[in-house]
Amino acid sequence: MVSLSLDSAVLAETYDRVSDRQFNHGKLLIEDLQISPGERVLDVGCGTGRLGAYVADLVGPSGAVAGVDPLPLRVELANEKRRPNFRASVGQAEDLSQFAAGSFDVVFLNSVLHWLPEKLGPLREARRVLERGGRLGISSAARERPHELEQVIEGVRSSLGVTAAAETLGSTTYKVTSDDLTSTLLLAGFEDPRLQIRTFTDHFADTDDVIAFYLASSFGNFLSNLDPAEAARVKAALAAELERRRAPEGIRLQRHLIFAVARAGG
Ligand SMILES: C[S@@+](CC[C@H](N)C(=O)[O-])C[C@H]1O[C@@H](n2cnc3c(N)ncnc32)[C@H](O)[C@@H]1O
Repeated sequence: MVSLSLDSAVLAETYDRVSDRQFNHGKLLIEDLQISPGERVLDVGCGTGRLGAYVADLVGPSGAVAGVDPLPLRVELANEKRRPNFRASVGQAEDLSQFAAGSFDVVFLNSVLHWLPEKLGPLREARRVLERGGRLGISSAARERPHELEQVIEGVRSSLGVTAAAETLGSTTYKVTSDDLTSTLLLAGFEDPRLQIRTFTDHFADTDDVIAFYLASSFGNFLSNLDPAEAARVKAALAAELERRRAPEGIRLQRHLIFAVARAGG
C-alpha cells in the first residue's frame, strides 16, 4: 500500500533538487503533446511544480496551467516557482471536482499513474475536465518492463528470503501494462491512444544517492514496509549488487517508461 503520509519537508526539498530525471522525461511527454501558447493545461500529480512551471512558460501569458497534488509540502514548493499563470493546489487524480467539465485543452500525468491504485476513475476524471478533442499525456512505469532497480531489489529480496511483498519494496508500486492502459483509456472515453516505451539510462554516485533519489521520488515509500533490521540487510545486499553495475560515470541503472498520448472522445 502506498502511503501519502510519509512525506516531509526534507523529502519534498530533496525531490525538487534531484528530480532532473522526471523533469527531463517530462519534457519529452510535453513535446509529444505539442502544447501551444494560449492553451489551458492541467498537471495531475504536479509534485514540486518543475514541469508545471516549464509548461506555464510554454503556454505564455494567454495560457494557464493548474497543478494538483495530494502532498501539501510539494504544492507549497510548486507555488514558490512564482509563475503568474501557474497555480498548484492540494487534490487527487481520483477527484478533480474543483475543475469544471471541459475546462482544459491538455491534461498530463508525469510519473504519477504508477502511484494510483485504480486507473479508470482518474482517467474518467481526466476525460471529464478535458474539452472534446483535448489531449491526455501519461508517462508511467511499465509492468511488462520494470526498472532495472526493481529487478535488482527483487533478486535481493528472494536471495535474503525477505517476505515483504516485492511490489511495495520498489519505487513504482502500481505499474500498468501497455495493453491494460490502452483498454482503460478507451473505456474512460479516450480515442486513438498511442503508446511507446522509452528507455533511460541513469548514473548514480553511490548507493546512498540511489536510495535518496527513490525515497524522495516515492515521498517516503521506498523500502518503507521493512522493519529496521530487514531494511539494513536489504540495503547492504543492494549496495553490493549496485556496485557490480558501476561504470566510469557511476552506478548505471536503466528505467523503462510507457509514454501514452490520447484524445478525449465524444
Ligand atoms: C514522482 S512524483 C512526480 C511529480 C511530478 N509530476 C514530476 O514530474 O516531477 C509522483 C507524484 O505523484 C503524486 N501522487 C501520488 N498519489 C497521487 C494521487 N492519488 N493523485 C495525484 N497525484 C498523486 C505524489 O504526491 C507525487 O508528487
